Amino acid sequence: MIDDLPAGLRARHLADEDHLRVLAVLDTWWGGLKGEAGATERALLLPRLYFQHFTTTSFLVERGSGEVAAFLVGFLSQTEPETAYVHFVGVDPALHGQGVGSALYRAFFALARSHWRRYVHCITSPENTASRAFHTRLGFTASAVKPDYDGPGLDRVAFTIDLSAEPVAIP
Ligand SMILES: CC(C)(COP(=O)(O)OP(=O)(O)OC[C@H]1O[C@@H](n2cnc3c(N)ncnc32)[C@H](O)[C@@H]1OP(=O)(O)O)[C@@H](O)C(=O)NCCC(=O)NCCS
Repeated sequence: MIDDLPAGLRARHLADEDHLRVLAVLDTWWGGLKGEAGATERALLLPRLYFQHFTTTSFLVERGSGEVAAFLVGFLSQTEPETAYVHFVGVDPALHGQGVGSALYRAFFALARSHWRRYVHCITSPENTASRAFHTRLGFTASAVKPDYDGPGLDRVAFTIDLSAEPVAIP
């Protein structure tokens, strides 16, 4: 499914039974970003519905032991026929910098293209400097910080990439 992952990792589509396993890694993987409020925010971003109704456009990466190594939750926009959206992505910190995140995005871009989606959007918190650097490196264009974008006090940076612009600079 994703053939350019580091050795020992394999990918499949997300499934209902992955829900609690993914929730369990969020705080560690995000390094406790934004404390208690951040933990609540993250958990609320991944209700079970994503593991039921968005599985075919989302990926889970596991080690041979079955341990969760990375995930990407995405979907095709129902409103904008040219758009796909990455909702949430995470990689085990022990695997950072080995191309797992970019492999997940490449797979999602291929899937988006196969459904004739030209644009991929996603957002991140302004405080998440790693995410901002990663998305910029992948070729996304970042907006200015959008105050209260996701609700009072929930500022966001929005990212867009145009998949029709060749070549897409993905490491
Ligand atoms: C952001 C994240 C997904 C990146 O995953 P990753 O597997 O480490 O990324 P990759 O190894 O594929 O890196 C791809 C490129 O982005 C760059 N990059 C990744 N993390 C970076 C960081 N923290 N700072 C600067 N550049 C970074 C890499 O250097 C690489 O570029 P290069 O080829 O020029 O070296 C990962 O750090 C993560 O899970 N963070 C915690 C969760 C999170 O913030 N998710 C995103 C918001 S929802």
